Amino acid sequence: MATTAKAAGRGPLGRAAGQIYAHIVGWGMAVPDRVMTNDDLSAIVETSDEWIQSRTGIRERHIASDKESTATLGLRAAQNALDVADVQPTDIDLIICATSTAEHAFPATASLIQAWLGAGNAGAFDLSAACSGFVYAVQMAAQAIRSGSAQVALVIGAETMSRVIDWQDRGTCILFGDGAGAVVLRASEAPGGVLSAILRSDGGGGDLLGIPAFGSLDIDGVTAISNGHKFGKMHMNGAEVFKFATRVVGESIQQATQQAGIQVSDLKLIVPHQANARILQSVARSLKLNESMFMSNIDRYGNTSAASIPIALCEAVQAGRIQADDYIAFVGFGGGLSWAAMVLQWGQPQPASSSFINRQRRQFSYRLAALRTGLLRASRSLTGDRTDSRSEEKAPEPGSRARSERPPFQ
Ligand code: UT7
Repeated sequence: MATTAKAAGRGPLGRAAGQIYAHIVGWGMAVPDRVMTNDDLSAIVETSDEWIQSRTGIRERHIASDKESTATLGLRAAQNALDVADVQPTDIDLIICATSTAEHAFPATASLIQAWLGAGNAGAFDLSAACSGFVYAVQMAAQAIRSGSAQVALVIGAETMSRVIDWQDRGTCILFGDGAGAVVLRASEAPGGVLSAILRSDGGGGDLLGIPAFGSLDIDGVTAISNGHKFGKMHMNGAEVFKFATRVVGESIQQATQQAGIQVSDLKLIVPHQANARILQSVARSLKLNESMFMSNIDRYGNTSAASIPIALCEAVQAGRIQADDYIAFVGFGGGLSWAAMVLQWGQPQPASSSFINRQRRQFSYRLAALRTGLLRASRSLTGDRTDSRSEEKAPEPGSRARSERPPFQ
């Protein structure tokens, strides 16, 4: 069926001419320079490189410095994606940042990135669906494009998991890392792009994986609940989450391919959330697929939650593992519990190379945006509005992280 649809120059759903499709036209990633190996971790908790590698597939992860945050990593990934797409910030209609480690409850991390890019025509919001967040966000952006309410959307998955890890808990601290990935979606009349999406949730399993936040009753000492959960710190029942993941990943890939009108065997590559190499091995067995069908880079980044799929996507494109017209799938799963799978038909033959002038225009936009933020802050402080000037987020370069607890190795 897929071959016939391709030959006919139509998407697998056989949509009519004139229909709007949402294509990924740009991609970018950013990770902190600092690398933390399994041996580094064994100096903090009782663990070993052998245990971590054999139980998870992770060798090392990247950890944000004092000058990096969810928004600064997201900004760098977004800038890289805009370069590939050759899109100017003012052309963006919508920015969605999927994250569980937002800079604030509000303003949205997406709003900070919007200001730093100088994306003056964009709406911006954060999306909370844990490790499924990127797939949810791409679907929201694709819907906005298909409905005609947006032409260009920027979707970011960005996390600083190192700041919500309980560094005394060896069951979780060995798994996670920091990073960001981003994609630019653009409206097109060419069939393809996002073809289907399965978004699911089971809040009944919410206690298996979480981070108690500002509105929570689920914090020791604040309520009658006594479960050891700490404000702003992740807790996880790893074994139960593992079982849940192996069940829903295969199932949702099958549902998403069915919705797209193709077979699982038509997929060229599956870009999954990177949580544990053993989960992917188990899913590959259940779907009777070769393990190489699953993009995996967990060995170098660990689990970067909402950032893991766009980071893996970037590396897959860079490695030449995705070509024009290929059917690919994204699949995410995690806190909520939530899970999401999506099928896309890749439409971009080669990364578009930005012209020198367009790159310079983007750099100018970033500088102008920083200048504008600085001037706004200065004018508020001159007029005596000190509340605003204290609470406003700093520009990315010189930022510091006095409020956050440092990981113990810093
Ligand atoms: O992105 C969100 C989604 N999250 C996930 O998908 C995570 C899913 N879960 C997992 O990946 C795995 O459950 C873990 C990697 C978290 C744990 O692996 P496991 O094979 O399920 O180990 P376990 O929790 O059953 O523990 C086995 C043993 C225990 O010792 P005993 O009781 O058998 O003596 C643990 O205390 O391994 C011990 N252990 C460790 N030993 C060394 C647990 N963590 C560690 C550690 N180093 N870091």
